[in-house]
Amino acid sequence: MNILQFKDRFHKEYGSSSNQSKHCFFSPGRVNLIGEHIDYNGGYVFPAALSLGIYGALRFRSDNLIQLKSTNTSLEVSVDLKKPIAFNEEDRWANYPKGVIKQLLDDGYSLKGCDILVSGNLPDGAGLSSSAALLVLIAFMLRYAGGETTIDKVELAKFCQQVENRFMGVNCGIMDQFSVAMGKQDHAILLDCDTLQYKYTPFVLGEYSLVIMNTNKKRELADSKYNQRRSECETVLGIIREHRQVVSLCQVSFEDVEKYVKDDVLQRRARHVISENRRVLLAVELLSQGDIIGFANLMTQSHISLKNDYEVTGLELDTIVECALKRAGCIGARMTGAGFGGCAIALVATDQLEAFTVTVNQEYEQKTGLKPDFYVARISDGVKAIACSG
Ligand code: GLA
Repeated sequence: MNILQFKDRFHKEYGSSSNQSKHCFFSPGRVNLIGEHIDYNGGYVFPAALSLGIYGALRFRSDNLIQLKSTNTSLEVSVDLKKPIAFNEEDRWANYPKGVIKQLLDDGYSLKGCDILVSGNLPDGAGLSSSAALLVLIAFMLRYAGGETTIDKVELAKFCQQVENRFMGVNCGIMDQFSVAMGKQDHAILLDCDTLQYKYTPFVLGEYSLVIMNTNKKRELADSKYNQRRSECETVLGIIREHRQVVSLCQVSFEDVEKYVKDDVLQRRARHVISENRRVLLAVELLSQGDIIGFANLMTQSHISLKNDYEVTGLELDTIVECALKRAGCIGARMTGAGFGGCAIALVATDQLEAFTVTVNQEYEQKTGLKPDFYVARISDGVKAIACSG
């Protein structure tokens, strides 16, 4: 759906006779290039915002209701600003906006009734952060349309992470909300998740393209082993802290892990975290020097570490990455996001893209019975207001 069709749809859903004007917004999904399961371990990640994402439109009403509709599903929810707001399983997608509304009210914002329509072109549950895109979109829309035109987007990201942690019960880190809020066209973001200091790096791939490969194996973050991995990391940190003063697992050395952590599984979890954090800094350096092959090699190493040490890949992600790496023109590939299904990414020579998708498609389907999807990634800006006249 393009923006014109989206505006038409808004009028179909809510009528066109109101004398209030509409406000329109776009919030991107994100792809993480390298630095997986690192944000909650206090290290470096290297994500970028995508041109795929969620459009949102808002128009004020004269009562205290916030109406929530989406073009992606028929489920509509109405929130009464004068009544308590609670998570409700049946409200499915609308729990994200509900969580934002509740948190804004709890933080002292005064909200007015409004009609909201959202429309996304991000594949659901694919690990491209559709939930962070929705949270950041709603929080930005309500504040911007409410008159706050300069919004601190780092604060916005932190706010949305809190909503996901507290209201949705997902113990995620800051990476997704940060990339969605702070993305910059044609740049990736080197983010220090401990201090939230960040630096934009031009995302220039020369003769290569970044291909997103959706395994179409759905992953549910809340139900997955995500929280278990987090607590394994906390256990390792606890053990190390009996001997050393460290702020996060990313600061620990391999030697100390070998010396103090006796359990093999915990040792491997820590090995992934420490090695992945180092790979990020090296990868950013290589990309800045134009060494795309070196960068791509680190992507592949990252996948191997996520597969063997962190164990968050699974049959579908491993298969699609293996199929990709066998193809001519593919110089590196890895899973992206939380894992356990969802998307992988590959760097592929642009002039071989077509043959690449055809053959990976065939082999992956043969091996898993699932049909994959492919998107050539375009890196875009973070959440923003867009023109919305008419
Ligand atoms: C999910 C979480 C992020 C991050 C990644 C793994 O996307 O929301 O905070 O932990 O998984 O890197």
